[in-house]
Amino acid sequence: MPLNSLHDLYVENIQDLHSAEQQILEALPKMAQKASHSKLRDAFAHHREQTQQQARRLEEIAKRLGISAEGKTCKGMKGLIEEGSEALKEDGDPEVRDAALIGAAQRVEHYEIAAYGCARTYANALGLDQDVSVLQRTLDEEGETDKLLTKLAESIVNPDAEQTTGEREFTRPSPSRSQTTPEERAR
Ligand SMILES: [Fe+2]
Repeated sequence: MPLNSLHDLYVENIQDLHSAEQQILEALPKMAQKASHSKLRDAFAHHREQTQQQARRLEEIAKRLGISAEGKTCKGMKGLIEEGSEALKEDGDPEVRDAALIGAAQRVEHYEIAAYGCARTYANALGLDQDVSVLQRTLDEEGETDKLLTKLAESIVNPDAEQTTGEREFTRPSPSRSQTTPEERAR
């Protein structure tokens, strides 16, 4: 589709985001299945429910615009998911895999935060107030998910992953924002 106006660009962004969400919907159950920490599994399961809602919001927007939500493949998301799935194929330590899963999920979140931020800005410029608030809601959810993943990585996954890579032989610098207990740190 030729991009002759900001409206064209906005439509393209909505379709691209819808494709991204569909791909994430497919990837999240696989990620949850491979996660070993129950909190990480729960986080993926919860985010899948949110993602369903987010896809529906985009369909709502598409309906208002009088366009189809389908029709594009988000190549960026395809690449991110492909890269993340490499970690799922490898056998290895479950805690290290959890750390890799979080890293992959955060790359996805950051991509979405950038894309939703652009779409919301375009909607604002086009005076589509209803869309602005719907997109902002999703943007807030993606931000919260990203923060939750950081918290999980800092408090559980990364310290565990570090312990399994032979770092035990060395004195590990105490993490400044770690939520581990002194006993856990002494292990
Ligand atoms: Fe999303």
